[in-house]
Order: sequence, then C-alpha cells, then structure tokens
Amino acid sequence: MAKKISIAIDGPAGAGKSTIAKRLAKELGYMYVDTGAIYRTVAYFFDLWGVAPKDIDGITRYIDELNIAIEYDEEGVQHMIMNGIDVTDDIRTPEISQKASLVSAHAIVRDMLLDMQRDVAKQYDVIMDGRDIGTVVLPKATVKIFLTASAEVRAQRRCDELNAKGMKANYNQVLKDIQQRDYQDTHREVAPLKMCRDSVKLDTSDLDIDGVIAAMKDIIQKKVAK
Ligand code: DC
Repeated sequence: MAKKISIAIDGPAGAGKSTIAKRLAKELGYMYVDTGAIYRTVAYFFDLWGVAPKDIDGITRYIDELNIAIEYDEEGVQHMIMNGIDVTDDIRTPEISQKASLVSAHAIVRDMLLDMQRDVAKQYDVIMDGRDIGTVVLPKATVKIFLTASAEVRAQRRCDELNAKGMKANYNQVLKDIQQRDYQDTHREVAPLKMCRDSVKLDTSDLDIDGVIAAMKDIIQKKVAK
C-alpha cells in the first residue's frame, strides 16, 4: 500500500479547525477525521452512565462497556457511533465540550483511542484535527499545522456558530468556557495541547475562512510537493 498523506491540524477550542479541515478535505479529496468528536463521545457515554469526568475509578470500571465507531455517510460526513447508536448531534453541547476536555485528560481514555485514530490514517489520505495529532497520534504526519486565534475571537466565533444553530449564547460565558478548556487542555499531564517543533503556526484572528483556506493550501502544497 502506498504511503498515505496525513495532515495534522492541532490547536485550541474554537480556532476554526473543524470548519477549515472539513472544507480542505473536500477540496483535496482527503478523509476528514474530527478527533474531538471521539472524546466528546466518551464524555457523552460517561455522562449517560452518571460517571463524573474526573472520576477515574468509575471510568476505569466502566470503560470496557463503551464501544466507539467512526462511520462516514455518502457525503463524507463523520458520524460517531456509541454502542450502536448514532450520537453525532448529541455530543455538540457546551456541557459535553467541558466534560470532553476533562475526560480526555485520563491516560486510559487516550490509550484506548490511539489505534482507532492511527488506523484511519493508515488506510486513507487524511486531514485529522485535534490537540495531540502532530505530537502523539501522527508524529510523522506529512504536514503539521497549529491553528490558533485569540480567545476573544474564538469566543465570538463560537457564539456565532451556536446562534446559527438557534442555540442561545452568552459571550462572557462562552469566553470563560474557552479559557477554562484552554487551561485544561494545555496543562494536563498526558498529551497536552502544544505546538511541535515541526509544525507551522497559523494565527487566524485577522483572517476570514477563505483567507485561512488559502494560507493552509499554501503550506500544504509546499510540503506535499517536496
Ligand atoms: O475539538 P473539540 O473541541 O471537539 O474537542 C473536545 C475536547 O476533547 C477538547 O477540549 C480536548 C479533547 N481532545 C483531546 O484531548 N485530544 C484531541 N485530539 C481532540 C480533542
């Protein structure tokens, strides 16, 4: 099997990773893998079971009851399947965002999900986004990009996104949530969010989506053409 191309996109919550990665994947014909959705599924599962995301004993006791699968529909949209149930829409709430950030700090959770993420990258050309893709999941990725933006810009974008879905959003609360998640995701012991030496940093604070896409294509073309 020919070696697959993998594009690792890491960065903090709300930097635009999934919007950008989804569009790029479509344009380049790669598979898009949203790894945050996998951690959200874990958080959702333990939430249903009444296990708090910091309760490592409860997590250790019940983790074997959880079966996670990633499926793609005809349009290439990623669906998260939890014990046979499609939970794709259920995992997109601010509460699950916070719980995913906490539950993802446990090594037992991260270890369980590692092979699943690597397997997709073995089979397909991928654009994979998350927090530890360039550092841990795909350390040999063809291209590594660290996408970031100021916390204020990210909070505003998240509010716009929630409003567009008809959900109420309070800017100050969203900003607080983002800052809290930034702290948790960068300060955990296992696979914290950090930029690796060989990744290219792209600050999207002053760019619109088309600007980010153009900048990313430029970075990707330079590396893939080598
Ligand atoms: O990308 P997201 O906001 O959907 O991710 C939700 C949480 O999952 C995030 O706050 C931290 C965790 N996560 C992680 O630890 N590692 C990843 N590769 C992706 C997400």
